[in-house]
Order: sequence, then structure tokens, then C-alpha cells
Amino acid sequence: MTHSQTDKRFLKALAGDPVDRPPYWFMRQAGRYLPEYQEVRKQAGDFLNLCYSPDLACEVTLQPIRRYSTDAAILFSDILVVPDALGQKVEYIEGTGPVLDRLEQASDLDKLDVSRLHDHLAPVYETLGKLSKELPSDVALIGFAGSPWTVASYMVQGSGSKEFELPRLWALKEPKVFARLIDVLVEATGEYLVAQIRAGAEAVQLFDSWSGVLPPTAFRELCVDPTKRIVSHIKASYPDTPIIGFPRGAGAKYRSYFETTGVDAVSLDTSVSPAWAAQTLQGIGAVQGNLDPLSLVAGGEVLVREAATILETLSSGPFIFNLGHGIVPQTPPEHVAMLAELIRNWND
Ligand code: CP3
Repeated sequence: MTHSQTDKRFLKALAGDPVDRPPYWFMRQAGRYLPEYQEVRKQAGDFLNLCYSPDLACEVTLQPIRRYSTDAAILFSDILVVPDALGQKVEYIEGTGPVLDRLEQASDLDKLDVSRLHDHLAPVYETLGKLSKELPSDVALIGFAGSPWTVASYMVQGSGSKEFELPRLWALKEPKVFARLIDVLVEATGEYLVAQIRAGAEAVQLFDSWSGVLPPTAFRELCVDPTKRIVSHIKASYPDTPIIGFPRGAGAKYRSYFETTGVDAVSLDTSVSPAWAAQTLQGIGAVQGNLDPLSLVAGGEVLVREAATILETLSSGPFIFNLGHGIVPQTPPEHVAMLAELIRNWND
């Protein structure tokens, strides 16, 4: 089925086809701000155990759909299941976030084993299969992965960071070694996303959450080029499956990213002006975004005003309403419900 034959609003918007109102979903729509998520999370114990338990992962994927009737569901998993599948130790520590047994030298790369990928990630594919059966017929299913640069950043830094100095410095000092790491991730990520599509994902998103720390040359080499290779890999098997890129913090480089990588849509971070995006990006393809997640925490007038500006400016071109980054844990779910209603009633 090509997207133009679908009745799913989200896929229509990605294909540039007309829609009755803008489709919407929210980055990190499943998670700790929902009490029903906290329940399942407790039951699962370990976070990775939740990601690898198809019944539980399916349940938490569906929770925000029930509350907000979003036009798309995003697979519940995490970008760091890929290093985990390659054999690197990954842990999620309450209040700290992810902690990895960090890669420090060239010989550490030899330990990464792509051959275990599909066996290790089989439960994720099973979750997608279950979701394909359980989702309402008008809701699209999104698969995802982290982009090589962002995943490599965690693998080398060993944790979250504001600046990710360790991977940046390694890439500068030993570009050939670092390129090997990126190559492993290009292969694993391409294979992983193809398998997600085979299992039922109708679109995929590549999260490059830390592309904004890279200067222009490194942005091209470590973000744009690897993304382009992954897009080609996916399109060789699934030319009709839309791919959304999220080069967070790319600024004016959103344009070259969009034109060069071949993604079908870009997800905009909060720093991008909707007017600039309408003028510069919507001629290339669909855009998704970009409400400040803190507007959702604030709620009330400011939320209505900010959401309306985005809707007014972007909904005459190919557009999917979303946030500029993920929902934060202190978000009141009623504010999300109010926003969903505002969008559902929107047509200009
Ligand atoms: O609805 C959804 O979007 C859920 C699926 C999802 C998760 N992580 C679940 C999760 C998705 C799409 C992600 C993407 C992700 N993970 C990114 C890219 C998007 C972004 O936010 O920039 C990144 C960088 C990660 C890595 C990661 N995972 C971090 C930094 C953390 C800890 C901080 C945080 O935001 O919680 C995680 C843990 C994580 N991933 C949680 C969830 C629901 C919270 C863990 C818990 O329940 O204890």
C-alpha cells in the first residue's frame, strides 16, 4: 500500500496529501508523567526489562493513545537498546539516567558484535507485531532508533552530558577509529530499522538528539552522511516507508540535512521559528514540531497561544503537530489532553 492510499492522517501528511486537520503525536508521549506508566514500570522492575517485554511494552505504547487519541503511536523502547544488543553494558539508574560501560580505545570497538543484533532485539520486533494488531485502524505505528552520532556519544561518554566532550574529542583525534564506530552503528541501525518495518512499523524516526554540539564539518561527516547511508539502506528494501529525521539543534543546517539525507520529513526542535520552517523546509517535505515541552507544563493561556502560532504558521503545508523535544516528567496529563483537543478542533 502506498501512503496516498492510506486513511491514516499521519501518513497522509508525511506523503504531502491533504488532511482534514493536522495530525499529532507527542515526543516521549509514554513515560513517567503518566501514573499508569509508573504502575507498569514498577511491575517490570528494570527499565530494559520493560523494553524487552512485548506485552508490557505494548501496553505502555497504547496508554497515551487511549488518553489523547493521537494519530500515531511510537514504539516503546529506547535508543540505547542498540549498544545493549551490540554487547556493551547499559544500565538505567533512577534519577541519573543511562550509564554505559564506556568505550575508551580502539580495541574496545572489537568487542562490539553486530551478529547478535536481531536475536537480542527480537522482543522489540514482537512488540511491533502486537501493536500492529492492537492499534485502532486510523492510528499509525512509528518505529525508531537513535542516529549513529547520538548513540556513539552515549557509548563513548558513558552517560548523558551537556557537551559530550569525550566523543567529540575522540572524533577529532582519531577520525579513522571513530569512523569505524560510526560504520558499525550505520550497519546496525539500518538493519534494525528495516526489521522494525518488516515487523509492522509504518514510518520510522531517527533521533539525533545531540547533533547540535557539532560544528559544521563534523555535522556533515557524523550526522548528515551516516543518516544518508541509513536512509539509502532502508529505501532499498522499503522505498515507500517514510523516514523522519530529528537533527536537534541543527539550526540553519536543518535545510542541508533535509536536502542531503533524503529523509521524508524533519522534526523541528524548539529553537526553529515556524515561519522560517514554512518558508525554507516545507518545500522540501513535511515538518513536524515544535512546541516547547515546558509550555505543556505551564498550560493555560501560554500553551494555547504557542500551539496556535505553530498551527497557524505550519498547517498550510505538509505538517504534523509535535513537541520540539520530549514530554518532561513534571507535565500534568490534563494539559496534554487540552492540547490534543485544541488540535483536533483545528482547521483553518
Ligand atoms: O513515548 C515514547 O517516546 C517512548 C519511547 C522512547 C523512550 N526514549 C523511552 C524512555 C523514545 C522514543 C526514547 C528516545 C530517547 N532515549 C532519546 C531521543 C529523544 C530525546 O529525548 O532526545 C534519547 C537521547 C534517549 C536516551 C535516554 N533514555 C535518556 C537520556 C534517558 C534518561 C532521561 C529521561 O529522559 O528519562 C532514558 C530513559 C527513558 N527512555 C525513559 C523512558 C520512558 C525513562 C526511564 C524510566 O522509566 O525510568
